[in-house]
Amino acid sequence: MYFIANWKMFGDLKSLKSLNKVINFSSKYKRKKFKLIYCPPYTLLDSFSKKIRKTRIELGAQNCHFEISNGPFTGSISPSMLKNIGSNYVIIGHSENRNMGDTDSQINKKINSSIKSGLKIIFCIGETLIQKKKKKTNQILSKQILKGLFKINNLNKILIAYEPVWSIGTGAVPRSFELEKNITFIKKILKNKFRIKNPKVLYGGSVNPKNAKNLAAINNIDGFLIGGASQKANNFIDIVKKTII
Ligand code: PGA
Repeated sequence: MYFIANWKMFGDLKSLKSLNKVINFSSKYKRKKFKLIYCPPYTLLDSFSKKIRKTRIELGAQNCHFEISNGPFTGSISPSMLKNIGSNYVIIGHSENRNMGDTDSQINKKINSSIKSGLKIIFCIGETLIQKKKKKTNQILSKQILKGLFKINNLNKILIAYEPVWSIGTGAVPRSFELEKNITFIKKILKNKFRIKNPKVLYGGSVNPKNAKNLAAINNIDGFLIGGASQKANNFIDIVKKTII
């Protein structure tokens, strides 16, 4: 199981302290049992990278530019810069960034350059509430996957995070049968169209210590992408405990 903390635009140097608890907790368990990945804002990547050295926590960024290394792109960060600072993962296609203009084709370019830079990808997909109500979920999910992964090699470097937009930060989570059905649908596309043997699909959207156990009981789920609840070490640890232990 993967547990990925997405801190979004939260956190400062003081928040680094909260990692101590998580490092302590995770050191007691075998590596195979679960994977912990932190995605803090860019400003904290370097400090995180130093802090988690020699621990079992891995580092990810929350986005990147589609240009692989350098260029005249004020305010942007490239995949190779992320790799250079100790990131192993990058979140691409988060709905908060799609909302700010990330298109499927830019997302595809970002995935391509990130893989070439040696990063693993946390590729977010998900339908909005209107699309869900119009029963367009499958259509949206398959479009996002087909366009996002178009002509991408090394597909084993990709984790999919299924995040229904209506569940992010709202407290609403899909019903179990619905979530299971959607994850099965996503895995089917990855297996049939992309020949990925053992695709990994995580769920994200309002995961918290209270609902983690129920969500984890869905048998084809491979982990969680956690926003709000990942900012407090105790909550994050609780989610892992409720799921795994
Ligand atoms: P949330 O965010 O857990 O706060 O709903 C999840 C995400 O956006 O990745």
